[in-house]
Amino acid sequence: MNKRPIHGGNLLSVSEQYKINADNWIDLSTGLNPNAFPVSAIPMEIFTKLPYDNPDFIESAMDYYGQENLLALNGTQDAIQALPNILAPHPVLLPEVGYQEHLHGWQLRGNDISLYPSWDMSAAIEVIDAWIEKNPQGHVVVINPNNPTGLMFPVEVLHKWARNMAQGSYLIVDEAFMDLTPEGSLLCHELNDRVIVLRSFGKFFGLAGLRLGFAFGNQDILNALKDRQGLWAVNGPAKYVATQAFKNEAWQITARAQIQLLAKKNQWLFTRLFSELNVNRKSTQGLFTSYWLPTIQAQALYDYFCSQGILLRLITLNETQAVIRIGLLDMSNAQHLAKLNDTIDQYLNHRKY
Ligand SMILES: Cc1ncc(COP(=O)(O)O)c(C=O)c1O
Repeated sequence: MNKRPIHGGNLLSVSEQYKINADNWIDLSTGLNPNAFPVSAIPMEIFTKLPYDNPDFIESAMDYYGQENLLALNGTQDAIQALPNILAPHPVLLPEVGYQEHLHGWQLRGNDISLYPSWDMSAAIEVIDAWIEKNPQGHVVVINPNNPTGLMFPVEVLHKWARNMAQGSYLIVDEAFMDLTPEGSLLCHELNDRVIVLRSFGKFFGLAGLRLGFAFGNQDILNALKDRQGLWAVNGPAKYVATQAFKNEAWQITARAQIQLLAKKNQWLFTRLFSELNVNRKSTQGLFTSYWLPTIQAQALYDYFCSQGILLRLITLNETQAVIRIGLLDMSNAQHLAKLNDTIDQYLNHRKY
């Protein structure tokens, strides 16, 4: 059986490992907006009534995403797990580096799997072009922008791939981190019949605990996904809060600007560390920044920060290369800011690698 991938934000397991209480960590391991959409008081009846279909919720989601053919999910994880079981058992091409639940799902299903280099645009395009030409009956998974590499394919390239795929084959585009650059989304265009788009609610709105996401695609695919969901797969409070968030365009505009500013400030914070470590490759998405390091150095850095109660995300690419992905620190927390600066100083004074 395949082992489930490890994810950011799992404070409980690291707090046991490093013997630091879960409440005392600075968690930079996720790609969530630290200034979440403010949830106001939720009426009691939202909790007491069953969450039947609610036109206000669906219409506000259609307006926000600009597409009508959608299905609400209990997080896009729902669809990521379901799609390998719904789609024809064709070969599948996946990103070598990216949210590992995709790979995990297809491995469980037993499809013939190939990987493309998801950190280099021209190499990735070359491999995907050639693979589709050889396997028109095959599915391709794209994470756009990629988490953690930040690689983002232009929509024209995605359209070309979808056009070259045979009937019954699908281009699955996971746009979990697209809210900062909505103009780069496939949802701005008419959706090709062979395209499935996934959008996660929790990251940009900073409300991962609500568990909400959306799938977009042809009606057959949405029906198949719906059939696999239980009744009331999306809970009432999630629908209530998301309806408010989708309608609040002013919050969305401000949040986009704030996230980009915060991302710049966060990068300044780490500039000294990574320049002293001679790190010359980084990729920024806004909600996280990824730094490429030799594996041994990345592991030492990750471990030292953990020993100080600061959780980063370590993604080991191979024996020689790894990525440290860092989410956004909320700079208004002076205590956290001071602790992070001290930890960077101490690391630079004591590092072995
Ligand atoms: C690229 C990507 N896709 C999908 C998900 C799943 O998110 P959710 O189930 O909350 O929509 C994640 C979670 O981190 C992710 O990073």
